[in-house]
Amino acid sequence: MKDYKNVIVFDHPLIRHKIALLRNENTSMKEFRELVEEITTLMTYESLKDGVPTTEIEVKTPLEVCKQNVVVDNSIVIVPILRAGLGMVNGIHVLFPSARVGHIGMFRNEETLTPETYYCKLPEGIENKLVVVVDPMLATGGSASDAIQLLKDKGCTHIKFMAIIGAPVGISKVAEDHPDVNIYVSTVDRCLNENGYILPGLGDAGDRLFGTK
Ligand code: PRP
Ligand code: URA
Repeated sequence: MKDYKNVIVFDHPLIRHKIALLRNENTSMKEFRELVEEITTLMTYESLKDGVPTTEIEVKTPLEVCKQNVVVDNSIVIVPILRAGLGMVNGIHVLFPSARVGHIGMFRNEETLTPETYYCKLPEGIENKLVVVVDPMLATGGSASDAIQLLKDKGCTHIKFMAIIGAPVGISKVAEDHPDVNIYVSTVDRCLNENGYILPGLGDAGDRLFGTK
């Protein structure tokens, strides 16, 4: 994979540890859900260190009054790509409880692997917010790229994308389709198999989160 200025890969022992647990086929649905949330929170801390609107307020400590920067309420919109992106929402809400949530429903056509959009509901005023698109799996990159384009078509100009596992081909596609969007991934896997699944990956994230298989 080329070196892209807008791709940030996390290299943290805690994240690596949790990804090992997440990959394990014996990890239960409950543990899988918790791990997705925990990894998302760790990624959020780092991914959102730039770009989050802050404002200066006065705080009265027991000793004196000081000025302090705080995060502007309701300045972030989380957009999970259904279904699996839903598993990442709470991991961000823990840190940004006032974040609104928009939903984009997409599934991959199993033969062509191209995404089809079946649902879209976004908060009013999203075009003025920092939009964080989340999906644990970035495989061919089709879903992420189309979701980001849909948001741009609605007027959003400040978008970040977070995935837990990315395949080189998918990361390259999103990085090149959207050079203005920062892409954060916890790990870059080897490749895709003939069915478009990431190797070594973790299987189908939606099925493992929601117990559908
Ligand atoms: C998975 C995953 C991504 C997409 C990634 O969803 O959650 O949205 O595939 O693949 P891509 O990068 O090749 O587009 P899927 O279509 O399986 O739907 P689901 O979450 O409802 O299971
Ligand atoms: N979607 C998944 O859930 N897993 C993959 O490996 C690829 C796409």
